[in-house]
Amino acid sequence: MVYLDLILVGFGNVGQRFARLLEEKSVRLRGDYDLSWRVVGIATKRHGTAYDARGLDVVKALRLAEAGTSLGALTGAESGRTVSPEASGLDLIRHATAEAKARRMQHLVVVETTLLDIERGQPATEHVMAALRGGAHVVTANKGPVAFAYREIMSATDNERRRFLFEGAVMDGIPVFNLVRETLPAVDILGFRGIINTTAHYILTAMESGRTYEEALAEMQAAGIAEADPSLDVDGWDAAAKTAALVNVLMRGAVTPRTIDRTGIRGITPEDMQNAVRRGKRIRLVASAARRDGQIVARVAPVELDASDPLASLGGRQNQVVLDTDILGPIGIQQLDGGLVQTAYALLSDLVTLARGLGRTDASA
Ligand SMILES: NC(=O)c1ccc[n+]([C@@H]2O[C@H](COP(=O)([O-])OP(=O)(O)OC[C@H]3O[C@@H](n4cnc5c(N)ncnc54)[C@H](OP(=O)(O)O)[C@@H]3O)[C@@H](O)[C@H]2O)c1
Repeated sequence: MVYLDLILVGFGNVGQRFARLLEEKSVRLRGDYDLSWRVVGIATKRHGTAYDARGLDVVKALRLAEAGTSLGALTGAESGRTVSPEASGLDLIRHATAEAKARRMQHLVVVETTLLDIERGQPATEHVMAALRGGAHVVTANKGPVAFAYREIMSATDNERRRFLFEGAVMDGIPVFNLVRETLPAVDILGFRGIINTTAHYILTAMESGRTYEEALAEMQAAGIAEADPSLDVDGWDAAAKTAALVNVLMRGAVTPRTIDRTGIRGITPEDMQNAVRRGKRIRLVASAARRDGQIVARVAPVELDASDPLASLGGRQNQVVLDTDILGPIGIQQLDGGLVQTAYALLSDLVTLARGLGRTDASA
């Protein structure tokens, strides 16, 4: 059996759905993958922090989070609390990695689901680096670290012999990174084209059928899919971060979201969308990258597509990436339904990937 001790840094929409999915799939993970887990720490920004090396009550944590109550109540002062309910995510990672070393807990995993910061990818990148340097593995659905600091992080994983997995950073649970890493050996990715921001895509398609920008955005917010700051979606920043992640990982580039040529969908009206449909066209927010004269040119922008273009026919909650490969030509990977559970699944699949490469361990003390 492989025993994983999890530290959840971020416990919002994604973090909570992940915790629930782990509970739902616990028996399957144990039976089919010899994988057993417990959550030993949770950090949030405004809803408290909790840590207990013997394991926290996840069901209670979910109840507290749903009620908006501080997670500090998970560990009473009388039970020898070692981390303050006010501790930051970074404090928790530092404490937990030090204690894991002292107690010889073998497989500590930091699950990073804090918010995307489009200025510098912080504090997520700091969380990832502290975890790796402290001897923990990292899985994340946050695009920030892979978009801003992929090279630095991978060199830390090599030095520390730890894993950094980020399948949820692009296309939620659809395995775009795993597809290339695990199933396309020796294939070069020459470029790609895709629709990779669900909120902006949903707004555009909703406006084609006469709904307003505000109505469509409100639906995405209610579904927990829009970024906490929706300007990240509508101004193309989220798509730029995902584009940077794809370029850095699949094309061995060294870009950041801020070096991507970016235009969002603000200013596009229902009339613009309906006029395009009348002309047999579709306006879509397209992310793309290609090599030109040895340089990688990457872009996010609204593009008017022919109705026959595969990207033009995608439904409102669907995403697609077409990879341009040297051996297999173009390969399309499509997400027919996107949402929180798919993102939570990306984290779960990363845990299984991680566990497959680890030796069996005894349960920690
Ligand atoms: N939602 C989606 O469908 C989706 C899909 C793919 C990827 N993602 C990515 O997943 C991540 C999480 O998204 P979400 O929808 O779960 O966001 P969310 O609901 O706003 O949750 C974010 C969580 O991070 C915590 N947090 C923020 N800053 C922190 C800090 N400095 N230290 C510790 N905790 C901190 C927040 O604390 P409080 O609870 O105190 O606010 C909250 O618990 C984002 O990076 C997002 O881009 C989301």
